[in-house]
Amino acid sequence: MNLKNSQTFKNLARTYAGECQARTRYEFMEYGARSQGFKALADIIDDIAYNEFNHARMFYSFIQTADKQTITNIHIDAGYPFKEKWDLMENLRLASEDETDEATKIYPEFARVAEQEGFKDIAGLYRNVIEVEKQHIAILSELYTQMKNNTMYSRPTPVVWKCSDCGYAQKAMEAFKCCPLCHAKQGAVLLKIDALSKPSASLAVSQNATASKVSAGKSGGMKTTASSAKSTTAKPSSPKTSSAKPSASSATKKPAVKPVPKMGGKPTSTSTR
Ligand SMILES: [Fe+2]
Ligand SMILES: [Fe+2]
Repeated sequence: MNLKNSQTFKNLARTYAGECQARTRYEFMEYGARSQGFKALADIIDDIAYNEFNHARMFYSFIQTADKQTITNIHIDAGYPFKEKWDLMENLRLASEDETDEATKIYPEFARVAEQEGFKDIAGLYRNVIEVEKQHIAILSELYTQMKNNTMYSRPTPVVWKCSDCGYAQKAMEAFKCCPLCHAKQGAVLLKIDALSKPSASLAVSQNATASKVSAGKSGGMKTTASSAKSTTAKPSSPKTSSAKPSASSATKKPAVKPVPKMGGKPTSTSTR
């Protein structure tokens, strides 16, 4: 079947739009979190936003394989979430909800259709992206739960808390309110998110299965009129945060995705990030 005349072509366009919107919503959230001083949390959200950018890039690249000529417009009819308002904790929950819709309903159906229409590579891309979205669900759920239960900076037994700015580490039940070394505030303390340190069970299983084929109750959110929500350019009032550099402990390890068609020869590293 010709991709341009397929249902998968429309699904790719829907998916691209959805990933772009998801990325933007995460950038809203990241901006709000950073504004509230949740620097380490904002860095995690920024990593997720970057994942969504790359998902969008890969789906867009497949769209471009459908025609050597310029694709002027693709008309699609689709619904997208507009649930998030200005509350950071609530937005973490809602984002997890949106990810769940993608990972358990929308993308599995798009993968099935792609498979049925004979586009195995596209079906494989959907299945691998699903595993990443599942990890996003796990990360967002943990962040939400910790914020709701006030356990983001508190543990029942002593643990090592590390400042993301200067690297100072201290073992205690409570994270330091102010870094003894660089005076960064508590929001700069690296968060303890299990999903960041280990891939989800489903991801591990999926990688094995598909490798041969082809991957504090505080306010926040997006209440801003600032023209840029980029962490690298918009560092509002986050205390003593000298860098918006994404954490090395990036949320998502790359699943075993078969390389998608290259678009314009531009490497990922030239992203708008
Ligand atoms: Fe995504
Ligand atoms: Fe996601």
